[in-house]
Amino acid sequence: MTTTDIYWDPFSTEIWENPYPIYKQMRAEAPVYYNDQHDFYAFAQFDDIDRGLADWKTFSSARGDVYEFIKAGIDMPPGTVIMEDPPSHDINRALLARLFAPRKVAALEPQIRQFIAAQLDPLQDADGFDLIDVLSDKVPMRVIGMLLGIPEEGQQAVRDQTVASLATAEGGQLDPADSGFAHAEMFGSYIDWRMEHPSDDLMTELLTAEFDDVNGVRRTLTRDEALIYTTVVAGAGNETTGQLIGWMGKIFAERPDVYQELVADPELIANAVEEIIRLEPIGHAVGRYVTTDVEFHGQTIPAGSTALFIIASANRDESKYEDGDSFDIRRKITQQRAFGVGAHYCLGASLARLEGRLVLDELTKRFPKGWDVEWDKAKLASTSTVRGWSTLPIVLNK
Ligand code: HEM
Repeated sequence: MTTTDIYWDPFSTEIWENPYPIYKQMRAEAPVYYNDQHDFYAFAQFDDIDRGLADWKTFSSARGDVYEFIKAGIDMPPGTVIMEDPPSHDINRALLARLFAPRKVAALEPQIRQFIAAQLDPLQDADGFDLIDVLSDKVPMRVIGMLLGIPEEGQQAVRDQTVASLATAEGGQLDPADSGFAHAEMFGSYIDWRMEHPSDDLMTELLTAEFDDVNGVRRTLTRDEALIYTTVVAGAGNETTGQLIGWMGKIFAERPDVYQELVADPELIANAVEEIIRLEPIGHAVGRYVTTDVEFHGQTIPAGSTALFIIASANRDESKYEDGDSFDIRRKITQQRAFGVGAHYCLGASLARLEGRLVLDELTKRFPKGWDVEWDKAKLASTSTVRGWSTLPIVLNK
């Protein structure tokens, strides 16, 4: 299928260091790429990614959206949303979307800002700190806690579990049997307590909302379904948004002049966050199971294949972005694919953007001179799914 000498392997630690030159080559020379070592097809061009992800009948999520899950062929429990196809996907997504209504997300802004400020205030006079430890590890989980009403005591355990579920040995693969779902019971006592003590929070709303299930039966969520929903939100919203903060740390250490522009004009921050998400989109590829033979660029992708859509490549596709490898906080970004596209478009996108904006806003206010990174101590996290930093020690400029 591919006669070029391009080799892309999502499990190679060496490639993971900087996969962008390979994506570029794939876009130009191998828009349909087949990896025979791991037996998957990959798509690197923006328009192919849009075509594939919009066609859920051919490219199914029912076996999961991650290579290791698709290959394992595990039956997903109902309610996983991200690992389901319509119609059950649409029913579950509509229910879960209640949590992410724009006014509910916007209402969290003061609390989120306050939490970020409380994390940073004690560090005003410090020489530096690990950005991952102080912000990535704490902010997204606390925000999910605010959204769902999970008590503070339980939040760090949830965060630690979601990070552990995504971690791999260097160059290794995920263990689907030890995914977040295997640990869903960690939310059990909270959900039981909420069922017995309804309040005016979103979890109560979720637990009491009536909906028509796939069999047309009008009912409320079962305890198991509520556990799965909570696990999905914690799994999807933690490490991703945490890594957005990590990339912020790296990008502005390398571009102190651009950081100064944000300090001088905070109005630029929202678009700067969008540009970080475009340039370093965290999740690099979303996977699908191919249900029927399908043709791309005159080549047949056979039914039963695993397809990987490289959204990190779409985000730099030269047919959509001028000089897509460069970082431009004034770039007009009308479309980018870090949050996916189609039926599974990220439900937490506005929340992630809000968190990114507030973090950058509070950082520029407190540390107007910016920072450098202790590169010899910084470490890329070892995962096959999200690309970002497990340690990023910054040294504050004085
Ligand atoms: C920068 C941060 C984030 C990135 C890059 C990101 C990325 C993505 C992507 C690419 C998908 C689509 C997956 C697919 O097509 O298979 C997705 C779906 C999803 N995301 Fe996010 N996400 C982020 C933050 C969040 C947050 C903060 C939450 C919630 C608190 C969240 C919840 C979800 C959910 C529930 C889905 C499944 C939607 C569906 O299947 O219908 N995400 N996300």
